[in-house]
Amino acid sequence: MANKRIDEPTGTETVGHEWDGIEELDTPMPRWWLWTLYATIVWGIIYVVLYPAWPLLRTGTEGVLGWSSRGQLAQEMRAENQRRAPTLTALSRVPIERLPDDSRLMRAAVEGGRAAFRVNCVQCHGSGAAGGNGYPNLNDDDWLWGGDLRAIEYTLVHGVRQPGVESTRNSMMPAFGRDGLLTPAEISTVADQVLSFSGKAKPTAAGATLYENNCASCHGPQGKGLREFGAPNLADAIWLYGSGKGRIVQQISNPRMGVMPAWGGRLDPVTIKMLAAYVHSLGGGEDFVEVAKDPAVAVDEQP
Ligand code: HEC
Ligand code: HEC
Repeated sequence: MANKRIDEPTGTETVGHEWDGIEELDTPMPRWWLWTLYATIVWGIIYVVLYPAWPLLRTGTEGVLGWSSRGQLAQEMRAENQRRAPTLTALSRVPIERLPDDSRLMRAAVEGGRAAFRVNCVQCHGSGAAGGNGYPNLNDDDWLWGGDLRAIEYTLVHGVRQPGVESTRNSMMPAFGRDGLLTPAEISTVADQVLSFSGKAKPTAAGATLYENNCASCHGPQGKGLREFGAPNLADAIWLYGSGKGRIVQQISNPRMGVMPAWGGRLDPVTIKMLAAYVHSLGGGEDFVEVAKDPAVAVDEQP
């Protein structure tokens, strides 16, 4: 431009514009800045050649290294599966009641079960497995169907009252009110009898008779429950459907029956074993006791 000149104090050329006597110096870029710019350009070109970079219509440029984030994930998963394979094989071989003999394997099973529980069970049993109305707390030692490893595994595989599963755990409490088996007054009397087991009402002769005739076969003579029928203990402080008299009358009149999905068809046997180990480890797990099929025969066979 015409008005370009050398600025005397700095020795730098001006750009040639002038506003009210103010001029602009044409200072060159600093060296370090220029070199950084060139370096990033070179780096960018190398990156585009080596790695996936430009999107095309359907795919994208792949890069000569052949790397992809999906490929890396697959590789990491293969390595992880390989690392876990010996544990999974050992778990698939050991009968579940022998699991506690190998504390290292048991720990691995509990950890695997914890992860599987978060995916499959928390929506009903809660993240801490503490349950809720109608969903049993799995942390306590109050078991509907049994709390040793094998009983828990059975519950998981076959479920509870799961329609269409032949060997599912099953039992139905009669609907004493809905089906007219007891009058409302009798239901109230027997509800008080239930409350008397935990000291919250006075037992009566009429209540005792009603209970014995209608309830004891499943809930036991003292209301301690029977696992064979999944019938809850009525004498403790743990309630599936609530401890108030209203809730108890409701359950006797028109019982709710809990349904737990059968996991046998949905999860593999090793995952179920790990889940059983996890539930067992929560605090209420019971030792497995081998029961002879017929104790009388077993005794007779003793020399
Ligand atoms: C759709 C809801 C639901 C899901 C999901 C579910 N459960 Fe259950 N579970 C129940 C109900 C309801 C019961 C109580 C059944 C009854 O009333 O006897 C139960 C009972 C149990 C019992 C028996 C407790 C006892 O006292 O004997 C165990 C053990 C158990 N669940 C573990 C699990 C595990 C482990 C998972 C995840 C794989 C799971 N549940 C997923 C609803 C569910
Ligand atoms: C055929 C067996 C059977 C008979 C008979 C029976 N029950 Fe039940 N009862 C059950 C089962 C099984 C459950 C658990 C339901 C579930 O898990 O969802 C239950 C649950 C209950 C509950 C709820 C307990 C809780 O923790 O919330 C009460 C209360 C109860 N029964 C009272 C009675 C009374 C009172 C009678 C007699 C009038 C009676 N039952 C007769 C099987 C029976």
